[in-house]
Formats: sequence, structure tokens, C-alpha cells
Amino acid sequence: MSSRDKFNIMKIGLLIIATNKYDVFIPPLLKSVKKHFMKNHEVTTFVFTDKEMPNKKGLVSLPHIHEPWPNVTLKRYHVFDKHKKELSEMDYLYYCDVDMLFVSDVGDEILPDKNSTAYVPNEYKGCYFAGGFNGGTSKAFLNMSREIKDRVNKDLENNIIAIWHDESQLNRYLIDNQPKVLSPSYCYPESWDLPFEKKILALDKNHKEIRG
Ligand code: GAL
Repeated sequence: MSSRDKFNIMKIGLLIIATNKYDVFIPPLLKSVKKHFMKNHEVTTFVFTDKEMPNKKGLVSLPHIHEPWPNVTLKRYHVFDKHKKELSEMDYLYYCDVDMLFVSDVGDEILPDKNSTAYVPNEYKGCYFAGGFNGGTSKAFLNMSREIKDRVNKDLENNIIAIWHDESQLNRYLIDNQPKVLSPSYCYPESWDLPFEKKILALDKNHKEIRG
């Protein structure tokens, strides 16, 4: 156990949106989170859903009205911005698609490093980032949510939706705001064969059927 684990227990918020047919993914995901996600810290999972869900220790369910595709994904950062007051009580916030599964431990290695403002990560070579799992300090995450919300709204006023919705916005944002880069282990497509350890699986699904 590192000294950080021992003395520095962080409040980690995990953000999940599950409306319409996506609620079927909640129980297996929550089970996998309990088993594998940030085991040395205090994790609160926030589930934004249109279904009834009792709050219990480490689980906060927040009512969220379903919107048809693609607004349900495009406007996800609007939701986080709307709830910024309670979310800012967390030290770190991570978003995770509900149709994902933690299959190996995910811990401190994903927390942002404390670098100089001049730091440019070696890994950065114009990566494309998957939208399925991302996060950081609650301050940085909520700043990003506000900025992406404003940009999506501006686009919508001009009848524009970026090709990969929130994911395109996320990628544009990260060009100007250098992130800590995680490997494909953390958003590993279930049926692919990649030379990386499987840590968080992005589950195979019938997109057409589930998006309604
Ligand atoms: C997927 C990603 C989702 C969302 C979507 C946008 O690749 O897993 O979180 O960003 O793209 O269409």
C-alpha cells in the first residue's frame, strides 16, 4: 500500500447516465465498480436515471428525463453542469458509460499527475479519446462540463451537431487542455483483441435496438 493510499483517502464520484432501456446495465456495472474501482478511496456513484432507484451507501440516484438519441449523449455534460454544486464536493469525478464493465482493478494510476503548467505529456501525439470513460479533479471536470455545454448549445443554435456528439466535443476540448492519457485498457471494446490488459470493458450491444 502506498502512503497515498494509506493517508490520503479521496472522495471519488463516478457518474453514470442510464435512461430508457439502458437501466439493464446498471446492476452488473455497480457490482463491478464495487469490486474493482478505486478500492482505497471513498467512491460515490451518481446514477442519473428515469427509473426508481433507492439511495444507499455510496450510491446516489438523481432523476433524469430521457431524451431521444443523440441528445441523450450530446447533452451529458449539461447534466453534470446542472448538478455542479453537489458534484464539486467530490475530489475527483469520472464519467463512465453505463454499458461498460470493470474487469480488473482501476486505481490511483488514473488520477491526474501534479505537473508543472508547462508539462506536455510524452504520450500526446494527437490521440483520439473515447468518450466512454474520462475524468479528473472535480474542478477540472466541471469546468470542462460547463465549456462543452456552452459549445454544444452554440452548435445547436446553428443547427449543428458534431459527428460524434459529446465525444467530438471532448476531443476538441482536450486539444487545448492536455489530459493525462489512459491506455485502451480503460475503454476496451468487449469483442476486440488488443495488446492491452482488459480493465474496463465497453460492452457489445445492438446500438439500433438499445438507442430506440
Ligand atoms: C461513444 C462513447 C459514448 C459517447 C458516444 C457519442 O463512442 O462511448 O460515451 O461519447 O460515443 O456518440
